[in-house]
Amino acid sequence: MLRVTGLSGGYHGSAVLREISLEVEPGAVVAVLGRNGMGKTSLLKAVMGLLPWARGTIQVSGHEISSLPTHQRVRSGIGYVPQGRGIFPRATVEQNLRYGFVVAGRPMRSALPERVLELFPWIREHLRQPAGTLSGGEQQMLAIARALVADPPLLLLDEPTEGLAPAVVEHLHAAVGRIAGSGAHAILLVEQHLRFALTLATHGYVLERGAIVVSGSSEELQREDIVSRYLAV
Ligand SMILES: Nc1ncnc2c1ncn2[C@@H]1O[C@H](COP(=O)(O)OP(=O)(O)O)[C@@H](O)[C@H]1O
Ligand SMILES: [Mg+2]
Repeated sequence: MLRVTGLSGGYHGSAVLREISLEVEPGAVVAVLGRNGMGKTSLLKAVMGLLPWARGTIQVSGHEISSLPTHQRVRSGIGYVPQGRGIFPRATVEQNLRYGFVVAGRPMRSALPERVLELFPWIREHLRQPAGTLSGGEQQMLAIARALVADPPLLLLDEPTEGLAPAVVEHLHAAVGRIAGSGAHAILLVEQHLRFALTLATHGYVLERGAIVVSGSSEELQREDIVSRYLAV
């Protein structure tokens, strides 16, 4: 589904990502872990073509996308939910959802897909509400729903639990579990919340200063020595 090989990249005058290679199989959930500032967000930005510079290869469904502009990467089948959610607070919930069609190059007036409304049943009752009036957890779910309206085979989630209360995190866990369970979307899940990530993912990668230092099954990544060395805050 996603195959990244030898990906380096960064900002003007700095290298942040160092020779990253990783793979996500169709329908799989794969975690990217690591402390703050280790390059997790930069990695997702590089996949989306949003880093100032990058080199290496990025294949989605067998197509090389690393020379494409961001909107064509979206159209190649990637749903991107950035850190901080990036919803439009003054637009309604429905307008935010429809924006998901726009970035994917689909007609804005397309019918909202039932499968997305079924994943997040509460959304139906809130379609006309300004998105900024939703709770933090609802805004996160809206951001994910927006990425799903175009039915992308690959979903990139950047720290979806950030800033959410534990009860809301449980709710979000169930929602991401349902998305994964549908088998229709592979998920690359960036998280600092280890239990959230490793109970959803089958395996994962640990980033340290822009390089992958460990990869393994979710079970292996919970080993005491790995957690204390690379992940504990
Ligand atoms: N816009 C930027 N310009 C320059 N450096 C940046 C920028 N954004 C992030 N960085 C640097 O890149 C490194 C990785 O950041 P980031 O990818 O945001 O890490 P993470 O998501 O793991 O917290 C950090 O050292 C950070 O300071
Ligand atoms: Mg980040």
